[in-house]
Amino acid sequence: MSSTHPDRRTFAIISHPDAGKTTLTEKLLVAGGAIHMAGEVKARGAARRARSDWMKIEQQRGISVTSSVMTFEHAGLVFNLLDTPGHEDFSEDTYRTLTAVDSAVMVIDAAKGIEPQTLKLFEVCRLRSVPILTFVNKVDREGLPPFELLDEVADRLALDVCPMNWPAGMGGTFEGIYDLVDPALMLPDKADASRMYAGERLPVAGLDDPALAAKLSPGALAHLKEETELASACYAPFDVAAYRNGDLTPVYFGSALKEFGVEDLLNALAAHAPGPQPQPAEPAPVDPDDAAVTGFVFKVQANMNPAHRDRIAFMRLCSGKFERGMRLTQGGTGKAIAISRPMLFLAQDRDMAEEAWPGDIIGIPNHGTLRVGDTLSERSDVTITGLPNFAPEILRRVALVDPTKTKQLRKALDDMAEEGIIQVFYPEIGANMIVGVVGQLQLDVLISRLEAEYKVEAKLEASPWDTARWIASDDPVALKAFQADHRGAAATDRDGAPVFMAKDAWEVGYVTQRHPAIRFTATKERR
Ligand code: G4P
Repeated sequence: MSSTHPDRRTFAIISHPDAGKTTLTEKLLVAGGAIHMAGEVKARGAARRARSDWMKIEQQRGISVTSSVMTFEHAGLVFNLLDTPGHEDFSEDTYRTLTAVDSAVMVIDAAKGIEPQTLKLFEVCRLRSVPILTFVNKVDREGLPPFELLDEVADRLALDVCPMNWPAGMGGTFEGIYDLVDPALMLPDKADASRMYAGERLPVAGLDDPALAAKLSPGALAHLKEETELASACYAPFDVAAYRNGDLTPVYFGSALKEFGVEDLLNALAAHAPGPQPQPAEPAPVDPDDAAVTGFVFKVQANMNPAHRDRIAFMRLCSGKFERGMRLTQGGTGKAIAISRPMLFLAQDRDMAEEAWPGDIIGIPNHGTLRVGDTLSERSDVTITGLPNFAPEILRRVALVDPTKTKQLRKALDDMAEEGIIQVFYPEIGANMIVGVVGQLQLDVLISRLEAEYKVEAKLEASPWDTARWIASDDPVALKAFQADHRGAAATDRDGAPVFMAKDAWEVGYVTQRHPAIRFTATKERR
């Protein structure tokens, strides 16, 4: 990486709802100085203000700052935090956001351990070997014993775990956190129980240092010694290569709410998390050190500002130094696009980006020319790969309440398909469009946005199908014959790619077996 600009840490937080992602995000922004506190105010008040400022910005601008990108600086590095939607349904949007990060922080509730959404998101990270730092949150409350939590991460995620610090008690018995790597005791603020962390970090020579005995109760110290000795025998030492390879996760205990261990987590990201990684591409991976500017669109958000019906394409920069006004070629169409109004997502504002570096996210306002999966480059021969569309698990026919609104409906469905909320299929037979989603929640979002943003009243009706597969064949005649034989279930997606709609997975299996010349795929990789 060039030394003329600060290195980047582009990461996402993955967690189950309620584990504390929002709280941790906010505290990371405070610790990173992205939310500036005015004057000498008590920390809790300031933290509260930070949160409400945040929400005010969102309301005023009508944009969802927290659901896109937050940039802040810390320890001479630039951090780009990409938020993954927090709802329970797995969506493609989430997956694609995770294709744009170099590492992730997994937040676990100390009382609950690994929850279903944590697991799903983790699996997505594993597909790309994204390195993961684990933050066990809410140690200020009663939680599961640390060993149980660590073993659960190790067993259920098949990862090596390495505790980096250790809580001296939890909940009512919590007395502090011991840093296992750089021996020190982090102490709560006795005077302000609401906040706990006084920022007091007491470096010690080890667990036998008398300074520890002066700060911890004899019972807590004995317990801490016993547990950490056992831990050092049970778990492998920290190995940065294994972490970056996605085989090992360092584990940090803390409390986002009480700001305990948040700065350590930030320092850990600075010290261990990888900078911009090479991006899979054709004809060859794009290296961050490549001189030519190349990036890809991983997310498109329509109507970020209700006053302008603009949409923002979020591009992850993979290589080169981007400068405002640059003309980049859109892969596929070969069109040259002048990026004259790029935006960087600094925490408090959407600022005009004058320049950006690999790992940065640039918002590009446009009127629908840019789509998820698009490569934008100074080169004309490169295509970023690896952003798939997923086979939908629910298919619904869209019926208009007012048939004169066909044009609006088409536009709305197109916009939302572009954002990756739904997929749209055009059946060979019949005029009604079919929407496909991977989870029920996406249907709710669809209906409410149709009404609120597009003033289109529509109903979703049952369709004879529940899933779909993209079809392809090396033998065009066989493909044509298959489509002719299955006209009632044939459709095309927005790009005109042929799709076969099936009642269920069983039918997919049955048809697949009977038509060996046809390839049925559950994901369509966008190229
Ligand atoms: P999410 O984005 O992952 O869904 O979680 P969020 O940060 O909204 O946190 C969920 C709840 O857990 C919130 O409580 C939050 O205050 C609490 N929480 C987060 N971190 C900690 C922690 O370290 N310790 C404790 N004790 N609680 C924590 P809530 O009552 O649902 O909301 P609120 O009224 O406090 O905002």
